[in-house]
Amino acid sequence: MDATLPRHVAIIMDGNGRWAERRGLARHAGHREGIPVVRMCVEECLRRGIGALTLFAFSSENWRRPAAEVSNLMTLFVDALEREVPELHANGVRLAVIGDRHALSVRLQSRVAEAERHTAANGALRLQIALSYGGRWDVVQAARKLAAEVAAGSLPAASIDEARFGAALALGGLPDPDLFVRTGGERRISNFLLWNLAYTELWFTDTLWPDFDVAAFEAALAFFAGRDRRYGLTAAQQGGAASA
Ligand code: FPP
Repeated sequence: MDATLPRHVAIIMDGNGRWAERRGLARHAGHREGIPVVRMCVEECLRRGIGALTLFAFSSENWRRPAAEVSNLMTLFVDALEREVPELHANGVRLAVIGDRHALSVRLQSRVAEAERHTAANGALRLQIALSYGGRWDVVQAARKLAAEVAAGSLPAASIDEARFGAALALGGLPDPDLFVRTGGERRISNFLLWNLAYTELWFTDTLWPDFDVAAFEAALAFFAGRDRRYGLTAAQQGGAASA
């Protein structure tokens, strides 16, 4: 395996609203313009053999946006799923939604369930869309799940370790992201994958999401390839070599 290539990339797709406002367009136009960029990232991951991609599309906090924007975004997600799933499936992509899916409309929930079922056997790329997702929500839902098993007597509390806890999180058995990308200029994690980003390399760009292109994706990968990942060890312990 190529150690200079991330196995899992996680992206906060930020800047759609500003992209639209700068052109005198409604914010929704920026969200719509973000869809081909998602497609480009999927294609690049497939082409390069990156096995997992996780995209932050709608946070737990985004519900507080104006009702019209929330409603437009939900319609966009339903339409995007309907339109894109056949091609994703044809390319061997396994799609999953992570987040508090019960907060989504019944229509979106059923589209998500159908897309997940349809693509479940695929293995070329694991694509996670975070919808109504928050890192704190994720930690709490994992804690609740484990607490219920302890209360039912099926899980000894002492057997809860980092691996067991990690498995109860939304990303479950996936490897942690190696590379995190945030577009739009902010230098924050913003309640994305709090547990899973512990050792992730963080890359930020001022580029707004609709302008994020192949060259920008390559710049993020080049940044990652140049990192020396030590996981708390010294360079000498690692033989001074970059390691994934
Ligand atoms: C953040 O930009 C972006 C969102 C809240 C929506 C992201 C959604 C897409 C890119 C569509 C992708 C769809 C699928 C199915 C994955 P912002 O509105 O916060 O921008 P701003 O910071 O400029 O206001």
